[in-house]
Amino acid sequence: MQRYCILILALWVLLSAAQPSRNATSSSTFGGSATTTTPPNGGASIGFAFQTTTTTPGFSATTTTQPPPQTPQPTQAPVAFPASSPPAANGPLPAGANGPRLKLPPPMPSAWPGVDNAVLLSGAVLADPLVTDALAYVKSVVPESVLAIPPSTQIDPTGPATIYNSDAVANCYWPKGPCVRANATAYYSPDVYACPQANTWGITYDDGPLYINGTNDTPDLLNHLKQQNIKATFFCVGSNSIKWPDQVYEAYKEGHEIAVHTWTHHPMTSLTNEQVVAEIKYTEAIIYKSIGLVPALWRPPYGDIDDRIRAITWALGYRTAIWTTTPLRDTGDTAGGSSDAREQEILGNVTQQFFPAQPGFVSLQHDISNYTTNVAIKILDLIGQARSSTPPTIGVTPMPVGQCMNIQSYQGSQTPPSGFVPPTPSGLPSGTRNGNTTFSAPKISGAVGCGRVVVSILLVGVVVVVLVVMVVFM
Ligand SMILES: *[C@@H]1O[C@H](CO)[C@@H](O)[C@H](O)[C@H]1NC(C)=O
Ligand SMILES: *[C@@H]1O[C@H](CO)[C@@H](O)[C@H](O)[C@H]1NC(C)=O
Ligand SMILES: *[C@@H]1O[C@H](CO)[C@@H](O)[C@H](O)[C@H]1NC(C)=O
Ligand SMILES: *[C@@H]1O[C@H](CO)[C@@H](O)[C@H](O)[C@H]1NC(C)=O
Ligand SMILES: *[C@@H]1O[C@H](CO)[C@@H](O)[C@H](O)[C@H]1NC(C)=O
Ligand SMILES: *[C@@H]1O[C@H](CO)[C@@H](O)[C@H](O)[C@H]1NC(C)=O
Ligand SMILES: [Zn+2]
Repeated sequence: MQRYCILILALWVLLSAAQPSRNATSSSTFGGSATTTTPPNGGASIGFAFQTTTTTPGFSATTTTQPPPQTPQPTQAPVAFPASSPPAANGPLPAGANGPRLKLPPPMPSAWPGVDNAVLLSGAVLADPLVTDALAYVKSVVPESVLAIPPSTQIDPTGPATIYNSDAVANCYWPKGPCVRANATAYYSPDVYACPQANTWGITYDDGPLYINGTNDTPDLLNHLKQQNIKATFFCVGSNSIKWPDQVYEAYKEGHEIAVHTWTHHPMTSLTNEQVVAEIKYTEAIIYKSIGLVPALWRPPYGDIDDRIRAITWALGYRTAIWTTTPLRDTGDTAGGSSDAREQEILGNVTQQFFPAQPGFVSLQHDISNYTTNVAIKILDLIGQARSSTPPTIGVTPMPVGQCMNIQSYQGSQTPPSGFVPPTPSGLPSGTRNGNTTFSAPKISGAVGCGRVVVSILLVGVVVVVLVVMVVFM
């Protein structure tokens, strides 16, 4: 085990040397002062693509109420991804995108935020080193001008509606387009919004985990995914993950990809830089406690993102993954009520629109309620039927987003540290399933071992330096 630690350290040192563009000290690269708005490449080459070319009024308005974030544009031809050539969902990564960022694994916080996701992260929760160290790092690598983009104003405290208080076009505010960044800059990666290969379906479930009683909940969904031999991406909400860490682990153990979907599920552009960092880091920490890994993908709630949020989350090591909106690949399971008629319409639409052979796409579904998870399960059953028809009536292959993008699911190690003990329902304190935040997470002995090796190596380093100095100067 110690050998691995040394190897990791050696790699880290090598990578640090090989990734000069993660140049924390070089603020001049970014223009330094808050008044400088010119991006490092002069602005001209910062690409952004609107996923829709028509019916998008209001782009020039800098202060407007956002439209419903899941406005369907299903009848529109796919403009971004002509069938003849694979979609360029991700341009080249900025140099250093896979280099070392913050220390991994994250330090564990001294206390967890509450599970009531109407309550914003504030107070002592923001003063934890988990947040302050990460924020300091963000400030060292993200241009001040980007961090100074003003937060939007949330109108509905439990919903997506915001007033955007800056230039929505210049900052590529997703709800106003939707606007996606197809090209990297020095301080963020391109958004993931489609799978590059034709006929690949990045299948995703947001907002969970959810445990009811094994019916129309995350364990039920996992069973149906297993029946169809489908692996998916779960964008987990931290305040739900802490209630059911065993379900996060179950999903991971079944081969699914675990990703971050924030702690409180607020529109991220409405939060301060500090709160954005906290939303990501606490969710990362509870996921690390649940599976022993740090995700590489995150998804903004409601798709609510702009360049400030892109830059902060990229500095924290994350690729932003939205979903395909042209054509719309949101099943609409959380919009428009929960009637049987609507369920039938969703199932009909998915069969007609998602199943045929087509350019690669990323879908949006939810395991957040009895209703949405029931719809998700029925879609899996329909996939099973379509596959067993002669000939099969489905031309696309569902898979996790990381797989369809050919990018790693986790930052750093792709396997949990040795000694990782997963959370089990029987190991959880009673009451945990009902939202008890006193959950004491499993011990992760591998990380402790690694820490000891680091300290030893540092000590040896100091001794060597002292000896060299003595030899040179004496
Ligand atoms: C990193 O910083 C050094 C010193 O400020 C500078 O010479 C170098 O060009 C920087 N590298 C990058 C990639 O910005
Ligand atoms: C941005 O990315 C798109 C898609 O990959 C590409 O076609 C375009 O040339 C890029 N623009 C710039 C300025 O690099
Ligand atoms: C489980 O929950 C579902 C939905 O809430 C409910 O319909 C069902 O009766 C419950 N089953 C049991 C065994 O409690
Ligand atoms: C189903 O598709 C139709 C046609 O594209 C669309 O108008 C409708 O809103 C969709 N229904 C749902 C529930 O998304
Ligand atoms: C859960 O969904 C099922 C449909 O699968 C429905 O029959 C049942 O009434 C729902 N239960 C609750 C509590 O909403
Ligand atoms: C939470 O769990 C702790 C320890 O198991 C217990 O003492 C406490 O009463 C629980 N609180 C609630 C609200 O269930
Ligand atoms: Zn969500």
